[in-house]
Amino acid sequence: MAQAVRFDEYGGIDVLRVAEVDRPVPGPGQVLVRMRATAINPGEAKIRKGLLAHRWPATFPSGEGSDLAGVVEEAGEGVTGFAVGDEVIGFTGTRASHAELVVVEAANLIHKPAGVSWEAAGALYVAGGTAWAMVHAVSVGPGDSVVVSGAAGGVGSIAVQLARIAGGTVIGLASEANHPWLIRHGVIPITYGEGVADRIQAVSGGRVDAFLDTQGGGYVELAIELGVRPERIDTIADFAAKEAYGVKIDGSAVGGNAEVLRELALLIDQGRLEIPIAGVYPLAKVQDAYRELEKGHTHGKIVLKP
Ligand SMILES: NC(=O)c1ccc[n+]([C@@H]2O[C@H](COP(=O)([O-])OP(=O)(O)OC[C@H]3O[C@@H](n4cnc5c(N)ncnc54)[C@H](OP(=O)(O)O)[C@@H]3O)[C@@H](O)[C@H]2O)c1
Repeated sequence: MAQAVRFDEYGGIDVLRVAEVDRPVPGPGQVLVRMRATAINPGEAKIRKGLLAHRWPATFPSGEGSDLAGVVEEAGEGVTGFAVGDEVIGFTGTRASHAELVVVEAANLIHKPAGVSWEAAGALYVAGGTAWAMVHAVSVGPGDSVVVSGAAGGVGSIAVQLARIAGGTVIGLASEANHPWLIRHGVIPITYGEGVADRIQAVSGGRVDAFLDTQGGGYVELAIELGVRPERIDTIADFAAKEAYGVKIDGSAVGGNAEVLRELALLIDQGRLEIPIAGVYPLAKVQDAYRELEKGHTHGKIVLKP
């Protein structure tokens, strides 16, 4: 038997429970991973509440989670490249990673570089792949002035660093408590809220080339007001803006793959990318972890461990 997060109906945090389930069996091409770290994401909370039921319905009892890092426990038939005991980073598309034992397609795994902590490894897939996709969607290059909303959040904290690596001058919108972290990472911090357009104009000298929006709620309109061309705006939280303004909505569907994971893990191993860890909770405290996330002010990632 193994522990796994389950919920039996759409609802609030209280529908989450930790169940004892049968040990999963890896099929051909699959690997059974003993989870060492897995992250939680706002999208999972939306799925659990039923807000995405029209696009991605749940079947009950439902598991959850896609990010994970761990140790190979068993390799299924035909798997090459992964052996029992290997340390891996990966993802599952079957809502299953918030569990002690997770079946993962071998194609969705990479080897964990030694210099990547379990917490960073387990938090990398959704937020990292999404941030990567955003930065590539708007083709950030040397000399570009790039604004990022939610700059210290799960996706934003990675996006600002990738945009810096790509050579951009990065302006990050965040609460004051997050400004020191942004400054340490070469980002110009700006407080969001009333007057934000003027503050961006002041620090950018009136020229913003690209805008990465992780928040929705009017940031695409702000970007357009700042004169950013629609093809250089990417939002992961305002899908209607694609139709309305022709902006991009590239996110985890574009950057969520093993190739990108490998690239990001290498950057972490080289000390060029940091995944800030806002909190670590045991699997049994999964409700507390989502309570923290749903306050909406996480700096980086919240991680579950067995
Ligand atoms: N489409 C996709 O592929 C995709 C993939 C991943 C995530 N998402 C979505 O993207 C959003 C962000 O995800 P995440 O994991 O980065 O979330 P998160 O870590 O929970 O985001 C927290 C951040 O949001 C910031 N924030 C809260 N209100 C804000 C406001 N009014 N203006 C600017 N920043 C504000 C907070 O900033 P302060 O603490 O500094 O105030 C905090 O740093 C979620 O809606 C998620 O569902 C979409």
